[in-house]
Amino acid sequence: MKEDMRKQLGLDERSVGIPVKKMVPPSEGTSVQQKSDPIVLVENGGFAYGRNSILESVEMKIKDGEFWCFIGPNGEGKTTFIKALLGALRPKRGLIRLRADFARRTRIGFVPQSCDLNPSVPTTIESFVKQGTAGLNVERTKLNHRVRRALEVMGIQFIRERSIWRVSGGQRQRAMVARALVRDPLMMIVDEPTAGLDLAASSGLLKTITELNQKHKITVIFVTHDLQLAGRYASHVAIFKNKRVINGPIGEILTGKNLEKAFGVPTEVKQTSSGEYTVRSKVEFQEASV
Ligand SMILES: Nc1ncnc2c1ncn2[C@@H]1O[C@H](COP(=O)(O)OP(=O)(O)OP(=O)(O)O)[C@@H](O)[C@H]1O
Ligand SMILES: [Mg+2]
Repeated sequence: MKEDMRKQLGLDERSVGIPVKKMVPPSEGTSVQQKSDPIVLVENGGFAYGRNSILESVEMKIKDGEFWCFIGPNGEGKTTFIKALLGALRPKRGLIRLRADFARRTRIGFVPQSCDLNPSVPTTIESFVKQGTAGLNVERTKLNHRVRRALEVMGIQFIRERSIWRVSGGQRQRAMVARALVRDPLMMIVDEPTAGLDLAASSGLLKTITELNQKHKITVIFVTHDLQLAGRYASHVAIFKNKRVINGPIGEILTGKNLEKAFGVPTEVKQTSSGEYTVRSKVEFQEASV
């Protein structure tokens, strides 16, 4: 990220160097914080609900500007891990460290898997988006401006007076992204809906998120069930399966072997000349041979 951009985003404390002891284990605590320090560092992370262990021995490093796709079958712990990143679930083991400028989580935008509102409460799109500003220490005119901008960026300014319950699933999803955008996030976490969105709406959402990543250098975590989209947009991939999370740069992780282990279907991954990865599961072949 460029220095001027960093300043605009209010990140200048990093350039003056924060003692590293806030960020890394004491054994490494002699140098100063670097721009290249991970914004999220997970070491030997274990996550559980009561005694029900969901994830074990998770090691992960996420750096500025990266585009992560989290993939894996249903119920393998993707949302659980995100809850832990957001501070809503304490690790049972190990640690999650957020870099100092992220530590209070005010600049993390989160788009949940489903609308977390009570359908019996009447809410317009605009007031729903405004809810995203809760707890921010920013003056009201600036907040109103952010709300207007977020509605525009997501292309829902013309339906801002409509009830959030009287719009399509895709439009509601856009409102959820706008609600996260008003926090002026440095990182966006999007837990893709598994139902209720047609393919066009869901890839449109990913396109918008990609623009945020490329134009505004916002770090992204996108949970998706669409491996093609992951192959196309991700710089890094995490595969959740059997309580483990294998993760790293896309070229190392998005392989036929890893996908076959996770999804149980023979899969072929190829890199195109433009650098994207295409994923083809050989389901037809399997069915034909049974
Ligand atoms: N609040 C909870 N209390 C107890 N168990 C839970 C809770 N939330 C999720 N689980 C269990 O934890 C496991 C992981 O769930 P999680 O929602 O993290 O999966 P996921 O990978 O996000 O799945 P999906 O792709 O369907 O969204 C599942 O077995 C689920 O039943
Ligand atoms: Mg989930």
